[in-house]
Amino acid sequence: MERCAPVLVARGRPCLNLKEAAENFRAILDFQTLFGNRNPVELEVGCGNGYFIAELAKRHPETNFLAVELCTNVILTAMERVLREEIPNVRFLNIPAEILACYIPDRSIRKIYLNFSTPLPEPNREKQRLTSSRFLSIYKKLLADGGVIEQKTDSAFFFEYSLNSFGENGFAVTEISRDLHRSKWAEGNIVTEYEQNFSSKGMPIYFARAVLL
Ligand SMILES: C[S@@+](CC[C@H](N)C(=O)[O-])C[C@H]1O[C@@H](n2cnc3c(N)ncnc32)[C@H](O)[C@@H]1O
Repeated sequence: MERCAPVLVARGRPCLNLKEAAENFRAILDFQTLFGNRNPVELEVGCGNGYFIAELAKRHPETNFLAVELCTNVILTAMERVLREEIPNVRFLNIPAEILACYIPDRSIRKIYLNFSTPLPEPNREKQRLTSSRFLSIYKKLLADGGVIEQKTDSAFFFEYSLNSFGENGFAVTEISRDLHRSKWAEGNIVTEYEQNFSSKGMPIYFARAVLL
């Protein structure tokens, strides 16, 4: 973990209770100090092993990227990748997405990527889904005017749930594909680790773009 200090900007839980942290703890990042420029900032929530964010950052050196991941072992792989490949425009937060607003300035994010977030179909886990009203209200605080969320998933259930949730929480869904790899968005699509796994089993990939109204 020490080796990754240059790219790790937040770690752990500031309080035991996430609700208390979200309401009372603030350690807002200064993007200009962090990245050394004023380029726009985009965010991936649940970055896994970091392949997606590393590829995206290499393709877009004019954009800065933040990647959030709860699981320390997994984010280590992502951070090591970015350091090994000497990618200058990515920084990581090893925190639960529930407390993103403790670190990220209001209305500072241009786009949020949700790639293969766990669908959590059990009714009693609805609040933990990364497209629930609870999380969309956090993203709305972080997104700049006209900010965008892009979602990819293998789960038909989670996709339909998310479309509904976007609509009910002040987002307009502007693009939909229920078979991304055979759609006009296939070209240029960065295939994530989970996407590769699902797609190799013949499963369609669902894609949506939602714009903050
Ligand atoms: C199914 S994996 C997908 C990983 C990667 N995006 C991909 O497509 O290969 C979902 C990831 O989201 C992370 N995650 C789930 N809930 C989270 C939360 N509340 N905050 C931050 N990360 C979360 C998990 O630890 C896991 O690594």
